[in-house]
Amino acid sequence: MSLQQKSFFPVCLIGILCFFCSCHSGTSKEDNAFSNDSTVIATGKFLFEKNCSACHGFSKDEIGPALGHVTGEASAEWLHRFIKDPQQMFSSGDKRAIELRKTFKTVMPSFAALKDDEVGALLAFIYANKVSAPLANKGDKGIQDPIPEKIKSSSLVVDLEQVAQFPATNNKDELPVTRITKMSFLPHIGTIFVNTGIM
Ligand code: HEC
Repeated sequence: MSLQQKSFFPVCLIGILCFFCSCHSGTSKEDNAFSNDSTVIATGKFLFEKNCSACHGFSKDEIGPALGHVTGEASAEWLHRFIKDPQQMFSSGDKRAIELRKTFKTVMPSFAALKDDEVGALLAFIYANKVSAPLANKGDKGIQDPIPEKIKSSSLVVDLEQVAQFPATNNKDELPVTRITKMSFLPHIGTIFVNTGIM
């Protein structure tokens, strides 16, 4: 090895090391912890609509908390663990999980069957939908008493007369269990037809 080659080798090595170090510190930054690849986000959207949107929105709490701020408040790693097993997070004494349980009083189902890259896709979608404005109903305990004044009772009396009783449809020994599913009046023959179903 010539002198020139000898000094070139360590320089290369340092260069390579720096390259790997910069990659590593890049991924630990919050913004880079979530993929911005449009295909990954689309997969996340699909998974979110299938598994999560029944309980979660982004700007308003529903059955579960609004997720519009969550990628700014919790780390990608925490979110990953939580989605896979919320119960475990709660039992292990995680502060955020305990607070959430106190507020929402419902247990989020665990999604342990989701693969790591599927959770990653969900997080990419959640990150892509982050909301910068304050969330709509944080701390809102819902409608307390929508009609504070008592409704006065009217003097109206409706005099009802029993006309007919439908017979029990599934068990003769019990009370009628028939439920009206459709009632139609046929004016041209002046008859009421009742279509019934069993409860
Ligand atoms: C049946 C309703 C329900 C479903 C379905 C559901 N969640 Fe949840 N989620 C909750 C509730 C309730 C909480 C509050 C924590 C608790 O009580 O376990 C929660 C909490 C969370 C949190 C923590 C929020 C925070 O502020 O830290 C994340 C993240 C989350 N859910 C993501 C998801 C994702 C992703 C899915 C779909 C894979 C999903 N959830 C499906 C009800 C649900």
